[in-house]
Amino acid sequence: PRMLILGAPGAGKGTQSAKITDEFDIDHVTTGDALRANKEMDISDMDTEYDTPREYMDQGELVPDAVVNAIVDEALSQADGFVLDGYPRNLEQADELEDMTDLDLALYLDVSEEELVHRLTGRRLDPETGDIYHVEYNPPEDPEVEDRLEQREDDTEETVKERLRVFRENTEPVIEHYEDEGSLERVDGEQAPEDVWEDVKKTIEDAA
Ligand code: AP5
Ligand code: ZN
Repeated sequence: PRMLILGAPGAGKGTQSAKITDEFDIDHVTTGDALRANKEMDISDMDTEYDTPREYMDQGELVPDAVVNAIVDEALSQADGFVLDGYPRNLEQADELEDMTDLDLALYLDVSEEELVHRLTGRRLDPETGDIYHVEYNPPEDPEVEDRLEQREDDTEETVKERLRVFRENTEPVIEHYEDEGSLERVDGEQAPEDVWEDVKKTIEDAA
C-alpha cells in the first residue's frame, strides 16, 4: 500500500508504523526521524527564521515546509509502497503531497489529549535499535536495554503542550480535509497496542 498514518503527537504513529512495515514489507517514511537525524543541517539558504531544524523542533514548532517537502519528495521517489508518518502536518503540505503521489488510504489514530500527554512524558527510546518503549505501558524486558534508554528532547511537559497546540491549529484541518475527501479511516488509538494493531491491519487489508 501507499498510505498515510495520521495522529497527534504520541498517538502511536511510530509504534504502529513499525508493525505495518514488517507486515506489508513497505518503507517507513518519517519526517520526524529524518529531521532528528539532520537536526544540525544548515537550512539558512532556504530563507528560514532559524538556521537549523533543531531550533524549531526543540520548541515544538513546525520546521518550514520547504525543508520538509524536499525530504518527503526524495523519499517517496525511491519507494514503491510506503507508510508516511508525520506528514502532511498542514494544508500546504497536503497540497504539495497531492502533486507527489496518489494514496490508497489515510489512517487516523484517534487518542484523547490526556492520554497523549501521559504517553509522551513516559516514552523512552533505544538509541541502538530505534525501538520505542514506555516506562509504564511497554517497558523493555532486558535490563541492558533498560539502562541505555533515552528520552526524546522534545518530550518535556512544556514542549509537549506546544506540540499539541500546533497539532490542533495546523494538523486537525488536514484530518478534516481527508475526511471531507472520503479517504480517511479512523482507528481507536486509545486501546492497547495489540488491539490497535489488529484494527490497523484489518483497515489496511480492507482498503487494498
Ligand atoms: P514527530 O517525530 O513526527 O513527532 P510527533 O508527531 O509529535 O509524534 P511522536 O513521534 O511524538 O508520536 P507517535 O505518534 O509516533 O507515537 P509513538 O508511537 O512514539 O515530529 C517531531 C518534530 O519534528 C515536530 O514537532 C516538528 O518540529 C518536526 N516535524 C516532523 N514532521 C514535520 C512536518 N511534516 N512538517 C514540519 N515539521 C515537522 O508512541 C508514543 C508513546 O506511547 C511511546 O512511549 C509508546 O510506547 C506509547 N504507546 C504507543 N501506542 C500505545 C498504546 N496503544 N497504548 C499505550 N501506549 C502506547
Ligand atoms: Zn513518531
